[in-house]
Amino acid sequence: MEGHSSIIIAVFSTSSGNGKTITAINLAAGLAEEGYRTCLVDLDLQFGDVMGYLDLVSDYTIADAQRAILRDEQHFKIDDYLTEYKCGEASFAVLPPPREINDAYQINVEAVEKIIRSMRGFNFIVLDLTAVFSTLNLAMLDLSTVINYVGVMDFLPAVKNYKVGYDTLLRFDYEESKICLVENMTDQDRYIKSRDVERLLGTKIYHHLPSDYQAVTYSIRMGKPLMYCMPLSPLTQSYWQLVDRYTNRSKQSRAALQYEEQKTGRKKILSWLFGDDDWHTANNTK
Ligand SMILES: Nc1ncnc2c1ncn2[C@@H]1O[C@H](COP(=O)(O)OP(=O)(O)O)[C@@H](O)[C@H]1O
Ligand SMILES: [Mg+2]
Repeated sequence: MEGHSSIIIAVFSTSSGNGKTITAINLAAGLAEEGYRTCLVDLDLQFGDVMGYLDLVSDYTIADAQRAILRDEQHFKIDDYLTEYKCGEASFAVLPPPREINDAYQINVEAVEKIIRSMRGFNFIVLDLTAVFSTLNLAMLDLSTVINYVGVMDFLPAVKNYKVGYDTLLRFDYEESKICLVENMTDQDRYIKSRDVERLLGTKIYHHLPSDYQAVTYSIRMGKPLMYCMPLSPLTQSYWQLVDRYTNRSKQSRAALQYEEQKTGRKKILSWLFGDDDWHTANNTK
């Protein structure tokens, strides 16, 4: 994106209920915890779940931001419309969807593009999208650096839709390297294997997220990302691993960070999470 230094991660899928929102929230939380200025944008304009999953309320939404940016783009300040999610020392910004369904119809693509462009101060912008090739979603996929394309391959129609979605992304000329295939709920006992999906798609799955229904349900009930309430779940660890891959963090830099934290006495969330190195390789061997 021209003149934009933020890394934009679009979380997309071809079916709802595939874990887009859970993924978007946990990526945003992980990135924030790693020290990156992060903004999570809920672009499920009619049925957005981010505020509910994080137990947040806000005075302003993307509808207010749109009104303001269209009124006076020069003096528009995105910070006036963001809600902060705070947990411990980390925090990230959230841009909520409109409160009323009617307002969702008023949101226009050019205004959303302008709003995202105004978020230059953030290192990472995570976009929680809907499961449709809409004009808005396509515009957001255009802006994004990475397309985190989530899928749950639990039955044949789901695999078919995942394949159709992937082929469509390629037909729209998104670079293969920009599309990160993320299989969610991989370890459920299923007759469709990851390697069969890979064979069908003709490419490798980038990341596998295990299933942990209890952890996800608890996290939503607590209004907290997984790392703050279910740190030991393999799913949480897998999200950490995904964050690492998107930030290119090496184990060495993490070790340095842990050392720094121990020295400065900061809360050692990373060290107790990453005491065991095995998870780095364990999750992506399917
Ligand atoms: N890795 C997972 N393990 C277990 N359940 C999951 C997992 N990911 C998602 N879910 C379930 O799927 C539901 C829908 O997730 P959500 O992120 O809201 O999907 P989407 O945003 O794609 O519609 C969650 O409430 C949870 O019950
Ligand atoms: Mg969602």
